[in-house]
This record gives sequence, C-alpha cells and structure tokens, in this order.
Amino acid sequence: MSARQRITADTPPRKRKTVTVSTLSEKKALGEPIVMVTAYDYPSASVAEEAGVDLVLVGDSGAMTVLGYQSTVPVTLEEMLMLSAAARRGLRTPMLIGDLPFGSYEGSDVEAVKTAQRFVKEAGCDAVKLERGGSSVDRARAIVESGIPVMGHVGLTPQTATALGGYRSQGRTAEKAMQVVNDALALQDAGCFAIVFEAVPADLTEAVMPHLEVPVIGIGAGPAADGQVLVFHDLLGIYDGHAARFVKRYADIRDQMIAGVSAYAEDVRTRKYPEPVHTYTMAPDEAAALRAELASGGLTGRRDVLR
Ligand code: KIV
Repeated sequence: MSARQRITADTPPRKRKTVTVSTLSEKKALGEPIVMVTAYDYPSASVAEEAGVDLVLVGDSGAMTVLGYQSTVPVTLEEMLMLSAAARRGLRTPMLIGDLPFGSYEGSDVEAVKTAQRFVKEAGCDAVKLERGGSSVDRARAIVESGIPVMGHVGLTPQTATALGGYRSQGRTAEKAMQVVNDALALQDAGCFAIVFEAVPADLTEAVMPHLEVPVIGIGAGPAADGQVLVFHDLLGIYDGHAARFVKRYADIRDQMIAGVSAYAEDVRTRKYPEPVHTYTMAPDEAAALRAELASGGLTGRRDVLR
C-alpha cells in the first residue's frame, strides 16, 4: 500500500466544501438530489469520499455486510464505534453519520445521549441516526437538545423487523401509511435534520413530501425523496446475501475479488508467483558469503532455529 494515497492530517483540502446540515437544506431548497451511501471502514469511506457523495452512514447493516451476523440486532455499540472510527479516517468532505445500534439508546434519554456522545467523541461522527417513531421520538429530541444532529428512520426499520412482520415493505394501506407519516412528522418536530424512508410505497413518499421541511432520504421509497441511500456492499455487489427489491447493482466486485484471489492461488500453486520483479536480491558476493558461512557452521547464537 502506498502511504501517499492515504488521507492524513497533512492531506491538502479538497475543492469540494464540507457537507453540513445547512448544505442539505440548501440542496433540498434547490431540488438537488442528495447522495448517501453506507461505509464501514477506511477503504469504503475513502471510495465514498472520492466518488463525491454527500452523506456517509456507518449503518448497522454493517452487522451483516462486514461482520457476518444474520441481522442488525446483535451488533454491539463497541463494534459500531470501531467501524465508525475507521470510516472517519477515510473521509474529509461528506457528513459522517453513525447508526445507533439496537439496545444502545431505547432505554432512556440519558442512555441515548450518552451513546450519541460516544459516536461523536470517540468515532468522530458528525451526527447519529436512530430507528422508528414512538419512544425514539423522545430519544431523538434529547440527543438534538444535547447538541448532536439526528437523522430519523421510518418505514421498514430492520432493528424491529420481527415486530413489523419481517423484512417487508411498510405503509401499503392508507391507515398504515399514516402511521409512517405521523412518525416522520414527529421526528421532524423533535428536531431531526433529515429522515430516512425505507421500503415504503412511492405514493406515500410523494404524498408526504409537501408536509416535510427536512430532507427525506429514500431507500426503496421511490423517486420523490430528496435523496437516495444504498448499502455500499449491495450497490457494488460485494455482499452475497439476499438483496431487497430496491437494490440496484452498479458493479460485481465480489466476482472480481473471487477471480483475483483464485488467480493468485493458482499462481502460487503453479509457482508462477513470485516473479523476479516481486523479489528482493543480494549482491552475488554477499549471497555467496552467506552460503559459505552457513556451510562452515560459523554461525553464532541460536543455530538451532535455522535447522
Ligand atoms: O443500516 C443501514 O445501512 C441503514 C440504511 C439502509 C439506511 O439504516
């Protein structure tokens, strides 16, 4: 790896301006789509940086895409902080949002604020996201009042997917849609700077847009939203698990990775790798002296380790 490619404190600032909450409001006012993607480590975050996205979410989807859990529920706060801190090191421009994991914020406003503060202090996040309406509205308000920007998340909320009847689209009747709308309005009133709408009908999103002042970021919520978010590993074809209907694949990186590692394995097994170009050399006289020394038994110290 070349140290020159890494973002460090000395890396010159990019031309693009840092994305803030005000940038998002401006984009909404101008009708400019907001681009959000997830990232969970230094390489994925630096790809997001280079691609010029606006928002990077260290989603708890990382539980499945990078940690191999079956759902988002088991991921711990410490794991999310570690992933978020790694993503921070790959970013300069986009706003970085940490996803509060299941069980780390629901208990009380005090717990929610403490957890949100850890994402900001320890991982360098600019904001946090939490799921659901209901009691999450109070938690969101408490975090906002503590000075940390909060993104809401309504519709399909994977942390409580079991209670929602599984990973399925939400708000498909007028009555159920009104529950999603009311959650979104309550989160807006609580001070959230943006709200994710996941897996809801496009009609629902379109109908509610005139009633929301904060940006709506859709994932499976149709084209009317102010922006879109996709999971990094889904859009690049890295994750081999189930892909939801709303996922669009822009690359097949997993196939390329398998092909690359298979070619490497084949080269090692057939002794095609390493080639001279990958190999360090000694001056011939030094190599000859080394061989002579070893042959004469003139070694000092731990001869046994060389046998
Ligand atoms: O965890 C996640 O990746 C998310 C996005 C899908 C919004 O919450």
